[in-house]
Amino acid sequence: MAKRINAEVYLEVYESEADLDESSKRLLQKARTACDAAYAPYSGYHVGAAVLLGNGEIVSGNNQENAVYPAGLCAERVAMFAASSQFPQVAVLKIAISARKAEGNTFLPVTPCGGCRQVLSEYERLYQQPLQVIMEGPAGKVYSAKSIATLLPFSFSANNLQD
Ligand code: THU
Repeated sequence: MAKRINAEVYLEVYESEADLDESSKRLLQKARTACDAAYAPYSGYHVGAAVLLGNGEIVSGNNQENAVYPAGLCAERVAMFAASSQFPQVAVLKIAISARKAEGNTFLPVTPCGGCRQVLSEYERLYQQPLQVIMEGPAGKVYSAKSIATLLPFSFSANNLQD
């Protein structure tokens, strides 16, 4: 029998946004507002993300779609890349993610896709501190992962490129 290596993947569930700490609540609010300016004419699914940096700055972004579908980019990557390009060398502490239908006024559950987990993982490793992920859950609940590592175990990193 081959040996097994187990990894734990888990989320914390908050019954409502009111149960979040103040900085997470504020960040989720920014992510919700960022949904408004999403460019998502093809899916009609508006996603907003807001990144909190170690210097207190918040940088937000939203999904940007394209007639060549795969050329578009998710909200998380738009926000994360904007943060890293505007504030290089400043640690990323948290990211909040929200979603709603183009005309909808209720927020929908959203968890980052695999590609975005990989991108976030790069910055978590770079700054050597946990990057908390706050997400809309179902029925007004809010999900939180204390680090990207708990959402993407066995991730690929610069270590894999070493000889
Ligand atoms: N999308 C995001 O922006 N973030 C996610 O976490 C999931 C999906 C976008 C990509 C595309 O514009 C639309 O939502 C539908 O997949």
